[in-house]
Amino acid sequence: MSCLKNKKILLGVTGGIAAYKSAVLLRGLLKEGAEVRVVMTEAARSFVTPLTFQALSGHPVHTELLDPEQESAMDHISLARWAELVLVAPATANFMAKLASGQADDLLTTLCLATTAPISIAPAMNHQMWLNRATQENLEKLLSRGVVCWGPAEGDQACGENGPGRMVEPELLQQQVQQFFTQGALSGVRVLMTAGSTREPIDPVRFIGNRSSGKMGYALAEALSEQGAEVTLVSGPVTVSPPVGITRIDVEQAEEMRQEVINRVAQADIFIGVAAVADYRPSQVADEKIKKDRQLVTLELVKNPDILAEVASLDGAPFCVGFAAETENVEAYAEAKRQAKGLDLIAANQVAAKEGGFESDQNALLLLWQGGREVLPMMSKYQLAKQLVERISEQYHASRQELVNTE
Ligand code: PMT
Repeated sequence: MSCLKNKKILLGVTGGIAAYKSAVLLRGLLKEGAEVRVVMTEAARSFVTPLTFQALSGHPVHTELLDPEQESAMDHISLARWAELVLVAPATANFMAKLASGQADDLLTTLCLATTAPISIAPAMNHQMWLNRATQENLEKLLSRGVVCWGPAEGDQACGENGPGRMVEPELLQQQVQQFFTQGALSGVRVLMTAGSTREPIDPVRFIGNRSSGKMGYALAEALSEQGAEVTLVSGPVTVSPPVGITRIDVEQAEEMRQEVINRVAQADIFIGVAAVADYRPSQVADEKIKKDRQLVTLELVKNPDILAEVASLDGAPFCVGFAAETENVEAYAEAKRQAKGLDLIAANQVAAKEGGFESDQNALLLLWQGGREVLPMMSKYQLAKQLVERISEQYHASRQELVNTE
């Protein structure tokens, strides 16, 4: 039976060109057996008529805050109480701003204030509007209040520009809704993680970096999110697209990565370090591009903070998982790292082999924890991530149980 069977979903549609895709989303949700009621803002009705949603859902579309006809059937408070999930797709910048400031000047914003159901938004707007500080601050506010943000996706936009701001495709949004209603092994568990490489600047155009593509970390973020975890990913520069449903914080340097992690670690149940953090950075960063006229250039390097070791040594540290990138003596070096950094589990990979490791779509891992060991053979990073998540989940729950038993 579909996990959406009889689930009560209130679909809010605001005024963006992506509104037509919400009709596809509605069909998909209904097909899975969900009960859906649609609320449209005035601007949404400029893009798609309520009749489209009414015909698809078989129910009148709610448009007015004070509509005598609707009020007698299902007023805005009943609708707010009825919903098990409020999904606003597309969510415009204006809607996000209103939601963040607690306005209630139309049916949808009023419902959002009145409901106790979880609220999720699928933003859709021009990429500059998305990146604008005002929108980002509104997003931060909404996330801190527990609003779940699915997307936006990156790519070509209706305005002819390219960047982050497209509404996530209806099929992917439907998957998110299904995941939301599925009780995964890590349901409600807050995971903070790092992925990708860091870039340590030498001058305005050059940096010290490494070959991490982010593929392993992003696959892991996706697998964690599929098990219901609330994932915050602090990411170095990568080219892979982030999975829908996670919160991504972009950084460049190890110091920035550390700061973003430390700012959030108190709210994390699990911390996972997948990033290939540069161990050293230049002690001086040249203000201007270094000229090529010298035969020999000497760079002085200073050690970067070890983010994982710092997190693991905190009072009340989360369950800590590290990765070990090794080229020889994989097991011995990885176990030494696990013990030195005080980790609950370490996932070691051979990064000098023909297959797997950096940049590859495949990988193999050796998992080590106190009193346990498991070999995960070569497979796609996504499949590998799914198996790793099983082990992390099992060990995490066992460690929590142990805590309860010793209290
Ligand atoms: O991104 P891909 O191309 O898919 O490649 C995946 C990967 C090979 C990068 C990944 O599987 C991996 O091994 N990541 C860890 C890389 C690494 O830096 O390993 P390490 O052995 O140097 O570090 C040990 C652990 O300490 C890691 O969890 C690392 O995130 C953490 N660390 C290291 C240094 C530092 N200053 N701060 C840290 O937090």
